[in-house]
Amino acid sequence: MFTIEDVHSSSAASLADFEKRFRSRFGTAPRIFRAPGRVNLIGEHTDYNDGFVMPAAVQFSCWVAASPRDDRKLVVDSENMQQTVTVDMDNARPSGQWSDYVVGAALIPDRNGKRLNGANLLIQSDVPIGAGLSSSAAIEVSVALAVLSLSGHSIDRKQLALWCQRAENEFAGMRCGIMDQFIASHGRSNHALKLDCRSLDYELLPMQAGVEIVICNTMVKHKLAGGEYNIRRAQCEDGVRKLASVLPGITALRDVSSEQLERYRELLDAVTYRRCRHVVTEDERVQHAASALKSGDLALFGRLMNESHESLRQDFEVSCTELDKMVELARAQKGVLGARMTGGGFGGCTVNLVQNEDVRAFRENVAKGYREATGTIPEIYVCKASQGAEEVMRESTKEAGSPSQ
Ligand code: GLA
Repeated sequence: MFTIEDVHSSSAASLADFEKRFRSRFGTAPRIFRAPGRVNLIGEHTDYNDGFVMPAAVQFSCWVAASPRDDRKLVVDSENMQQTVTVDMDNARPSGQWSDYVVGAALIPDRNGKRLNGANLLIQSDVPIGAGLSSSAAIEVSVALAVLSLSGHSIDRKQLALWCQRAENEFAGMRCGIMDQFIASHGRSNHALKLDCRSLDYELLPMQAGVEIVICNTMVKHKLAGGEYNIRRAQCEDGVRKLASVLPGITALRDVSSEQLERYRELLDAVTYRRCRHVVTEDERVQHAASALKSGDLALFGRLMNESHESLRQDFEVSCTELDKMVELARAQKGVLGARMTGGGFGGCTVNLVQNEDVRAFRENVAKGYREATGTIPEIYVCKASQGAEEVMRESTKEAGSPSQ
C-alpha cells in the first residue's frame, strides 16, 4: 500500500534525471510537459450522452520530454513499454499498438490545420494503466501539448481536449466521450470541475476542507472495457432513436427527463430502458451534487455518490464483483461519506469521500478486508485534486515548474 504523495514526490525528484535520460538518448536538451490522470467524482457514462460530469485531476501524470526535429518523423521512446517507435507523419495510420495514443494525438491536430514539425519524444507515465484513472488521456494530452508547443502553435485548451478525444476515437477505436481529455487539459488544484459535455461550459468547484478523496484500486484491469463500452454507447443511442419518435428534436439522452423516460418506457426493451434510466438519473445527480458541494453539504454529496454506484451496478451493469466488494468495505468504515466505482467500469478503481481524521483507519481496514475477500492486495491513493496539463521545464530558460502543483 502506498500513497499518491509517495509516487508523486518521486516523480518530482526524478524530473532532472528524466531530462538527463532524454539528453543521453537524443543528444539534445528537451522541453518537458505533463498531463494528469483523473478521478471522476460523479457523472459516469454521461459524457457521450451530452450530459454532465464532475471529475478532478489527480497527482499521477504522464511526462513527455520533447525536442524538435527538422523532418516529419516522430521518434517515440516509451520508458513504460521500453520500446521505441518511429513514424513518418505523412504516412502514419493506426497500428493497434500502444503508440497509437501518441501518434493519434499528434496527427489529429496536424491534419486539422496545425502543421507540425517532427519531434523526439521520451515518455514516462506514473498513471496506473488500465485502472480507470485515464492513463490514455494523460498520454494524449501531454503529447499533443508537447508537439503543438514545439511547433510554435498557441494552445486552445478546449480544442486540445477535442483533438485528443478524436485521437482516441479514431486511433485507439474507443468511442470515449470528452470527459477525460477535458479534465486532463483543464484540471485545477483543489477543485473539481463540473462540465456540460454538450456546450463544454465548465465550472471549477472548490473542494471542501475536512475530507479527502481516496481512490481504491481493485487491481482488476478493465480489459473488456473497450468492447462493452462501445456496446453501452450504442444502447444509449438506440434509446434516443426510439424516444425521438415521441420526443421530436431530442438528439441525446441529455434532452430526456426522468418523467419523460417513465412516460414512454414501453417504447424501449427492458435493457435499453435501464441503460437510459442510469444516464438520465445520473445527469440529475450531477446537478444535485454540484449544488451540494457549493453549499458544503458533503453528506448529500456522498449519498449521491452511493446512488450513482447502485445505478451503475444495476441499471448500466458496468460494475464487477471486486468493485462492489471495495464499495461495500468502504461503506462500512467510519467517516465515509460516499463510495462508488469511478471511470468506465469492469474493474479499475473506486472513489471515496472520507473525513480527514478517518483516512488512516480507512486505508488499513479496506486494504485488509479486500485482501481477505479476494486474495489481492489493493493500492489505495489519498489524492488531492491537482493541476491540468502544463509545461514543467523549458529548455531555453531551464525554468523548472514544480510537478507537484
Ligand atoms: C471512460 C471514457 C470517458 C467516460 C467514462 C465513463 O473513462 O473515456 O469518456 O465515458 O469512461 O464515465
